[in-house]
Amino acid sequence: MTRHMDIPWWRDAVVYEIYVRSFADASGDGVGDLAGARERLTHLKELGVDAVWLTPFYTSPMADGGYDVADYRDVDPLFGSLADFDALVADAHALGLRVLVDIVPNHSSEAHPWFQAARRGEGRDRYIFRDRPNNWQSTFSGPAWTRLPDGSWYLHLFAPGQPDFNWRNPEVRAEFLDILRFWLDRGVDGFRIDVAMGLFKAEGLPDVEDQSFMSDSPVWGQPEVHGVYREWRELLDSYPGERMAVGEVWTDTLEDLALYVRPDELQQSFNFAWLQAPWSATAFRKVIDETLATVPFATWVLSNHDVVRHVTRYETADPGTGLSRAKAALLAMLALPGSAYLYQGEELGLPQVQDIPPEARQDPVFIQSEGKLPGRDGCRVPMPWSPGGDSFGFSPEGVTPWLPQPGSFAALSVASQTGDPGSTLEFYRRALACRRELVRTIPYELEWLASDEDALVFARGPLVCALNCGTRPVRLPPHENVLLATGPVEGGLLPPDHAVWLQRQVS
Ligand code: NOJ
Repeated sequence: MTRHMDIPWWRDAVVYEIYVRSFADASGDGVGDLAGARERLTHLKELGVDAVWLTPFYTSPMADGGYDVADYRDVDPLFGSLADFDALVADAHALGLRVLVDIVPNHSSEAHPWFQAARRGEGRDRYIFRDRPNNWQSTFSGPAWTRLPDGSWYLHLFAPGQPDFNWRNPEVRAEFLDILRFWLDRGVDGFRIDVAMGLFKAEGLPDVEDQSFMSDSPVWGQPEVHGVYREWRELLDSYPGERMAVGEVWTDTLEDLALYVRPDELQQSFNFAWLQAPWSATAFRKVIDETLATVPFATWVLSNHDVVRHVTRYETADPGTGLSRAKAALLAMLALPGSAYLYQGEELGLPQVQDIPPEARQDPVFIQSEGKLPGRDGCRVPMPWSPGGDSFGFSPEGVTPWLPQPGSFAALSVASQTGDPGSTLEFYRRALACRRELVRTIPYELEWLASDEDALVFARGPLVCALNCGTRPVRLPPHENVLLATGPVEGGLLPPDHAVWLQRQVS
C-alpha cells in the first residue's frame, strides 16, 4: 500500500454515473431523486465502484433534464432538498464512495434570475446578446439564437431555454468560483464539468462553415477557457482530500483533449475516442496508443446518458453479439491504465430502448428536431430494480415512471440477475472485484503482446488482457491461469466477441 500512497484516488477510479432522474424514485412522482439514489447506494458498493457522479439535481424547469439550471446552489423539489443531498453524501462517504457533482457553466436556464433580469434589459453582459444572429446552429438542431420581444437575440448552443453565459464577464467567473466553493464546502469530492470546451466563443462570433469540434473552431475550445480551469484547480487544491474535476470535453483529436489535462488544470477529461470507434481491434489499438501517448491521465467511457447504449451499438444481425461485445469491451476497458466511467444500467446489460412513443419522449433533441432525431431518451429509461410491479421497483407501486420501461426489463432487473453466475450483473461484480485487487499492484504502463491482427492482447505486469474483435477464434498467449473471461476459453482459444484476463508469470 505505502508504495502507492502518492497516487491520487481518481487515477484508477471506477466512477459510476447516476442519471438521477432515472436511477431510483423514492418520492413516488415517477422521477428519480436524491433520496432514491441514497437508498440504492448499497447496489453501488456491492458492484464495487469507487465513486459516483450525480447528474444535475439543481433547481431547473427541466428544458434539458436539469442541464438548464435556475439556481446553482439549491436542489430542485423534484429531486429533493439540500438535506437529502447532505444525507446522500454522508452515506456515500460512510460506504467509502466518493461523490462528484455535475457543474453546468456554459449556460444557465432561462429561469435563472440573471437571465430573467437580462430579459428586462438588465445585466445583459452576463449572456451573449446581439442585434443580429450569426449562422451558428444549436447542438440540438435549429438556430442557436432566439429573439426576445424587444428584437434582441441571445445565443444558446443548446435549447432556447439554455442561454450561454458570457465568460468574458468577470462576474460570471467569480460566480462560478463561488458555486464551486458552495459544493466543496458541502463535502463533494469533485466535479464533472458540462460542455467544458464551450465556455468561450471567438471574439466577433464569426460565421462557420462547419460546427464540429475542429481545433480552429470559433465555437468550441477557445484558449481563454484554460485560464478558468487554472483558477478552478487552485481552488480544488486549496481543499483537503484530493478534490478533482473531470471535463466533458469533445474534441476532434486527442491532442486537443490533452490540453485540458494538465498539472495546473483539470485532473481528467472524458475520452470519448473508444466510444466513437467501430468494433475493430485496429481502431481500438489506435485509440489506446494515442490516448496513452497524449493524455497524462487516461479515462475510458463506453456509455453515458447522451449516447446509444453500447450493447445496442455493438449489436449485429446475430442477436446477442451486442451483449457479448459489451462485456468484452468492459474487460478491456477495466484492464487499461487510467480510470473508467460506467453508466447506470450497463451493469445490467440494458439495451437502448428504441420504441418509446413520440408523445412520451422528452429530450429537447427530439422536440427541437421535430422528431427527425430520436434523441437520447432511449438510454435514459428508468432502472429496473426488481422483476415485477408497475415500474420494476424504480418507483413505489402504483406510480408510472417518467419514461415507459419495456417488458424485457423484468429479466434484466438487479434482483433477477443477483446470484445468477451467468448474469451480466454478476460478471460486472466479478470484474470490478478482480480489478480492485489488481489495480494498485500492477504497473500503470501497458505492453502490447504479439497477436492476430483482429485481436488486442496487452499486458500490465502479470495481468494479460485479450480481446477478440475478429470472426475466428484466436490463440491466447502463454499464461498460468485464467482470472476472468466473458465466455468459455477452451483449448487456449478465445472465441470472437469475447475477452479474457489471464495471469502470467513475470520475471
Ligand atoms: C452535455 C450533457 O451531458 C447533455 O446531457 C446536455 O444536454 C448538454 N451537455 C447541454 O448541457
